[in-house]
Amino acid sequence: MCGIVGYIGRQDAYPILIKGLQRLEYRGYDSAGVALINPDNKLNVYKAKGKVADLEYNASSKDTSGTIGIAHTRWATHGEPNDVNAHPHYSQSENLALIHNGIIENYMVIKQELIRNGYTFKSSTDTEVLVHFIEYIKKTNKVDLCRAVQLAMGEIIGAYAIAIIDKNDPDQIIAARKSSPLVIGIGEDEFFLASDATPIIEYTPRVIYIKDEEIAVIRRNKPIRILNMRDIEQTPEIKTLEMNLTQFEKGGYPHFMIKEINEQPRTIVDCIRGRINIEATDVILSGVLDNKERFENARRIIIVACGTSWHAALIGEHLIEDLCRIPVEVEYASEFRYRNPVIDKDDIVIAISQSGETADTLAAMELAKSKGAFIYGICNVVGSSIARGTDAGSYVHVGPEIGVASTKAFTGQVMVLSMMALTMAKQRKTITDELYKSLIKELIIIPEKMKKVLELNETIRDLSKIFTYAHNFIYLGRGYNYPAALEGALKLKEISYIHAEGYPAAEMKHGPIALIDAEMPVVAIATTDSIYEKTISNIQEIKARKGRVIALVTEGDDVVCNIADYCIEVPKTLEYFAPLISAIPLQLLAYYIAVNKGCNVDQPRNLAKSVTVE
Ligand code: G6P
Repeated sequence: MCGIVGYIGRQDAYPILIKGLQRLEYRGYDSAGVALINPDNKLNVYKAKGKVADLEYNASSKDTSGTIGIAHTRWATHGEPNDVNAHPHYSQSENLALIHNGIIENYMVIKQELIRNGYTFKSSTDTEVLVHFIEYIKKTNKVDLCRAVQLAMGEIIGAYAIAIIDKNDPDQIIAARKSSPLVIGIGEDEFFLASDATPIIEYTPRVIYIKDEEIAVIRRNKPIRILNMRDIEQTPEIKTLEMNLTQFEKGGYPHFMIKEINEQPRTIVDCIRGRINIEATDVILSGVLDNKERFENARRIIIVACGTSWHAALIGEHLIEDLCRIPVEVEYASEFRYRNPVIDKDDIVIAISQSGETADTLAAMELAKSKGAFIYGICNVVGSSIARGTDAGSYVHVGPEIGVASTKAFTGQVMVLSMMALTMAKQRKTITDELYKSLIKELIIIPEKMKKVLELNETIRDLSKIFTYAHNFIYLGRGYNYPAALEGALKLKEISYIHAEGYPAAEMKHGPIALIDAEMPVVAIATTDSIYEKTISNIQEIKARKGRVIALVTEGDDVVCNIADYCIEVPKTLEYFAPLISAIPLQLLAYYIAVNKGCNVDQPRNLAKSVTVE
């Protein structure tokens, strides 16, 4: 979703800002812009609909000088994606320029007030309202820019991260946040600002994460000042980033998505490192063990998440109910937050989010917290808002995921849920020692099995060519593989724009089977498990109606291979962990179909990596 970059220091700001915007492209956006104060104190703003390259083209013959600037990639919320609605936005006098992530919910009320006071607007955005409002407060209260931002923050409702510059003070950037992340990088006589650490990491590992309702005053050659809304000075907490730049690069692959698919055998090792003992006899998940009583006494678990994380949650529901005998409910975070849910203090609410910034998941978590539930987070991004807001949690530890369509984060989330279920089952004594140990033994060889699945790359690439021009797809699975079917369908939709639906295989006959004809490709996940025979019957029902079946089966399964039109054979694993294996061929299938269609795989249209608005 929207991205923020800022720079103040001794170097030319423009190339640093452009590079920063490119580093943020993975978040998904539809327009971009930059504001620079040149050496004559002129405030230049350049914007373009489309990609950062379009912005560069627009600015190529213009004055891009200056050692201070802010830049933005926008994902439209208020007003269509175009040059005018792109950020930065000037204030009425054109002295100020502002960039903004998030939404100002009461912008209409403020806009009416400003119109009554003679303000005019060029764009349809809430952001332009905010910059005019800050200027209005600055003038009418005769205060400096920092104070004006503080006062504005007291009036506005919503979630935001902002950065603002003033051409009359070319030595300062003011930044502020509420519920939307913002990081300051500290270099030698220079500062960097960004909505996540990605654009900063190549310049400095030293960062300050601005906290909610804090304002940062970033001045040339001066220490950073952090203030809260009541103007009380806060002590900045400097952290050292442990990421490196190669983690953000493609490492020889044509797209981040295929790089991330191929990383899974290693990322799963990273995910379990230090959590399963060397003898493979025990799981040590500290977030659960440190809160033993909570987990022992939990009467119910509610999992809130969105998108791919919600599919991981459905697998978690199976694992926890199967192994721990605790009732589990899985909720879309966006629905949960608005339906006055019944939550008890003995409930555990698990929030799953790769980015840790998804607005709906964050709000669902806050709601559960306010009702006294114990909140457990499963996030990938260290230090993200959800990770910070929970009572305890487990990081997924799969490294930065850049492709908008989630792949390695999904398998990491499922692995964490598997380890959680095992830890809780042992504590609650709902698992025999024998089953506990055999499950751990299987878990640690999952990465090796993933390597074998990845050897199917060429087979799946060839298969993808047959289906590139399909208009619809159905994905079927049962039990643990039903969420895997949902996730397979979502991957295809997201990146190839082919309509795809995931269904529980047996539910087909209650309606969707009407869609089946010789034109309809059906991906049937039929690996050997406790309901394997039933799944075969469901495949027969599809074949009887001439559907084209691509079956995902366990190695050596001639029965299904003889019924299906195409067969993908994967290594055998236990039913509990089947989605960790079946997810990968489905990721590859979606990837190659999208590549064949010439789609922008890493940044699919209309999607964002981190959805920080509701
Ligand atoms: C967006 C992304 C999805 C992701 C979902 C939830 O829609 O495009 O890939 O699954 O957000 O994101 P989270 O970071 O909370 O897991």
